[in-house]
Amino acid sequence: MSKNRNLRIVGPSEAFALDLPVPSEGWEAHDARVAEGRRIDESRARARANLEAGIPDLFARRIATGEVRPELPAMRALQSAGADGGPPRAGIYVLSGPTGCGKSMAAAAWLAEFGGRAPLWDSAARLSATSRYDADARARRESATGMVLDDLGVEYADRGGNWQADLDALVDWFYGHGRPLVVTTNIPLAGRDGRNPFADRYQARIASRVAESLGWLAVSGPDLRRRGGRQ
Ligand SMILES: Nc1ncnc2c1ncn2[C@@H]1O[C@H](COP(=O)(O)OP(=O)(O)O)[C@@H](O)[C@H]1O
Ligand SMILES: [Mg+2]
Repeated sequence: MSKNRNLRIVGPSEAFALDLPVPSEGWEAHDARVAEGRRIDESRARARANLEAGIPDLFARRIATGEVRPELPAMRALQSAGADGGPPRAGIYVLSGPTGCGKSMAAAAWLAEFGGRAPLWDSAARLSATSRYDADARARRESATGMVLDDLGVEYADRGGNWQADLDALVDWFYGHGRPLVVTTNIPLAGRDGRNPFADRYQARIASRVAESLGWLAVSGPDLRRRGGRQ
């Protein structure tokens, strides 16, 4: 049988008991409603945090609504890429595959769950266009506990020759601080001649960090954007 609940309220100088009458809906329904409200608040807070990290709307929405399919190749690759056989928690990872196979979605899902308390998403196009003297952007990168650098290879590579140096510095920062960095790219990791086109393009320094992390992840799969138009 439902009965009143007694709450003990402790103030700075006195304590008293509060007698809460049974709500008209009953305690069970009441508690379920409160729990549901809490669940909604938590989902909302998580979705907001993902957007604040910079995760694009489409991916943030899919994460929030639970529409992320874990069985797709890019998801599976990241799920077991870490040193302990689970998702990456440190090191540098390059997720390579054809357009539309789900790299960015997988990276977003990973960041949302394993990016730590200060996750950060940036695209290579945007980062390469950000001034290297932008102190706020730099501070955000340096305090990030996990990062996704999306779509490396589409950025404007020139920028006075500084981009490669900045990219090296970013990779070194994450590597040196034991924080995970996941890079997505369309550039393949294996060419016909047995060379690694990504490593050739982004030079030995980055490649060695990726290799040390065992972070080469090549995935394949159909273009998910094509089937049926809008996804
Ligand atoms: N794991 C997944 N679950 C559900 N939808 C996905 C998943 N991966 C990709 N998609 C959808 O497929 C489309 C292409 O995925 P995306 O990650 O952008 O591909 P890529 O970055 O490899 O070009 C997106 O619209 C995305 O919402
Ligand atoms: Mg992408």
